[in-house]
Amino acid sequence: MPEVADLLARDSPDTLLVAAGGIADGRGMAAALMLGADGVMLGSRLWAAPECLIHPNHQAAALASDGDGTVRQVAADIARGYDWPEEFTGRVLRNGFVQRWNGNEAEHRTVAAATRADYLAGVAEGRSDAVGIFVGEAIGLIHEVAPAAEIMARIADEAAALLQGRAAALLGPAPPQ
Ligand SMILES: Cc1cc2nc3c(=O)[nH]c(=O)nc-3n(C[C@H](O)[C@H](O)[C@H](O)COP(=O)(O)O)c2cc1C
Repeated sequence: MPEVADLLARDSPDTLLVAAGGIADGRGMAAALMLGADGVMLGSRLWAAPECLIHPNHQAAALASDGDGTVRQVAADIARGYDWPEEFTGRVLRNGFVQRWNGNEAEHRTVAAATRADYLAGVAEGRSDAVGIFVGEAIGLIHEVAPAAEIMARIADEAAALLQGRAAALLGPAPPQ
């Protein structure tokens, strides 16, 4: 992040630098801003909002997990029929679906077309152990579903308080001149 910030300052000062990945609270936002970001992009944190068009069972399953309960895999794309090149994996909850198919891609490909309709129904109906649930490692920082506006206000307020107060607390009183 700081290296990219330096690059942009030098070569493209009008380009905004947005930090993403693992940011789910004011600490992450404050840290990203200190590293030179102009702003942050929240994925998983805003996924855990009622505005997100996902079955609430999937949100509940993710809230019960943490970063170590996720894994990068391709099973969810095989199940949906998305033919990404091999290197493009996606992070999902480590659940029954993943345990069954992650590492068994060849076998999965032989049954995926026939089971696709049921898989997609499982996504829509909230069968959380039977489908891939995309979330980032930041899920370990997310403990409730909250309205998007509340999430945004809380994170911005926390970041501002940290940037204003924490540095002073770490440094202690200024030495006498
Ligand atoms: C529901 C969901 C779907 C996602 N789908 C994709 C995707 O199709 N392609 C991709 O590159 N990243 C995808 N991501 C990862 C986001 O790019 C990632 O969440 C973003 O970098 C922010 O990281 P964070 O979730 O830790 O905040 C997805 C994330 C979520 C939560």
